[in-house]
Amino acid sequence: MKNYHVSLLALAIGVLSVFGCTPTEEPTPLQDGLGEGEYIPLKELFKDHFPIGAAVTPNHMDSRTPHGRALIEHFNSLVAENVMKPDALQRVKGTYTWTNADRIVQFAKENNMMVRGHTLTWHSQTPDWFFYDENGDLHTPEVAMKQLEEHITAVVSRYKGDVYAWDVVNEAMFDWDPNGQIIYREDSPWYKIMGPAYIDSAFVYARRADPDAKLFYNDYNSIFSWKRNKIFDLVKRLKDNNIPIDGVGLQGHWTVGVSEQDLRTTLDLFRSLGVEIQITELDLSVYLSNDEPGSTIYTDAFNMRQRIAYPMLMKVLLDYSDIITGVTFWGIGDDASWLDTPGRKHFPFLLDEQLQPKPAYFEVQKLIRR
Ligand code: G3I
Repeated sequence: MKNYHVSLLALAIGVLSVFGCTPTEEPTPLQDGLGEGEYIPLKELFKDHFPIGAAVTPNHMDSRTPHGRALIEHFNSLVAENVMKPDALQRVKGTYTWTNADRIVQFAKENNMMVRGHTLTWHSQTPDWFFYDENGDLHTPEVAMKQLEEHITAVVSRYKGDVYAWDVVNEAMFDWDPNGQIIYREDSPWYKIMGPAYIDSAFVYARRADPDAKLFYNDYNSIFSWKRNKIFDLVKRLKDNNIPIDGVGLQGHWTVGVSEQDLRTTLDLFRSLGVEIQITELDLSVYLSNDEPGSTIYTDAFNMRQRIAYPMLMKVLLDYSDIITGVTFWGIGDDASWLDTPGRKHFPFLLDEQLQPKPAYFEVQKLIRR
């Protein structure tokens, strides 16, 4: 447990002023047995509910660095942010590069962490040779499937017993289409070569290579009606056809404006399919819209928004912890996020730029430590 100076009074004023109230009395102190500013590491906090993961790069895999220490302290699951993708593992056909992915798996083993694998089949970060021949023409379905089978078999076999869950297919559904006319991402070379059949095949290859690994379909914007219904139909079709799929990964690239109702409706929908759910890429941006001016300072307004949004979100996830088998942040702390651009930081995590718990962290802690 460590100290972090949080003013409970400031928090009360902040939260109440969001709802247009004026505080008249001091908030009730916590009855959780912790002193002010003391915290329980995330993985301990959620240990009775689900593993807590982080997306990492190989240079984080060093217990002497701040990132390595934060990982060991707070997380019991890792996923490679980039180095298990096809372009990292098999940039050149037939030549596999394992070094970076191996470092992550090794670090996880040394520190009793689980590893999620991301990702086996994707239209992005996949070398052209998977899709095109030397003349630039799309491969036949037979050639493309043979190559995909070889890739999945090699990768899943190498990490058999070490990687407990795979994102077998990533982002295969068309994203923005409120009328539901276009189901699949038709500009994916995988789709162009053979339609949606590649999805089914990828799951079959992965199951053959490691019958014990949990197999996931993973996508973003999956809490919105136009997308979640497509994902629902896909997973239902796969299950009806005895294609081996164990779960759905809901990428959590949300904002502080994320809707509790959207979350609950989505989780209820997938519950009815009888599959596991994992929140695979959680980052809660501080901005309410893309039009909001960017900032490199973590303002009071950002702080207040996250103190409200994060506990709301985590409460929902706790309410569904019978079907949620993992929650993975898409990074470690606010020092680095794929969302950040010059002049516009998103501060999306529970750990700050120094990898210390933020005020929102303490609000989340209260959910469990009351
Ligand atoms: O590896 C090269 C490096 O050699 C080069 O010097 C550098 C210069 O820009 O680029 C490096 O590659 C970058 C790579 O991240 C590794 O840092 C790519 O340009 C960059 O595009 C790539 O971005 C990744 C993105 O996926 C690519 O689609 C992000 O880090 C990663 O967070 C993001 O993750 C995706 C998930 O896989 C799927 N869901 C959405 C999520 C966010 O986009």
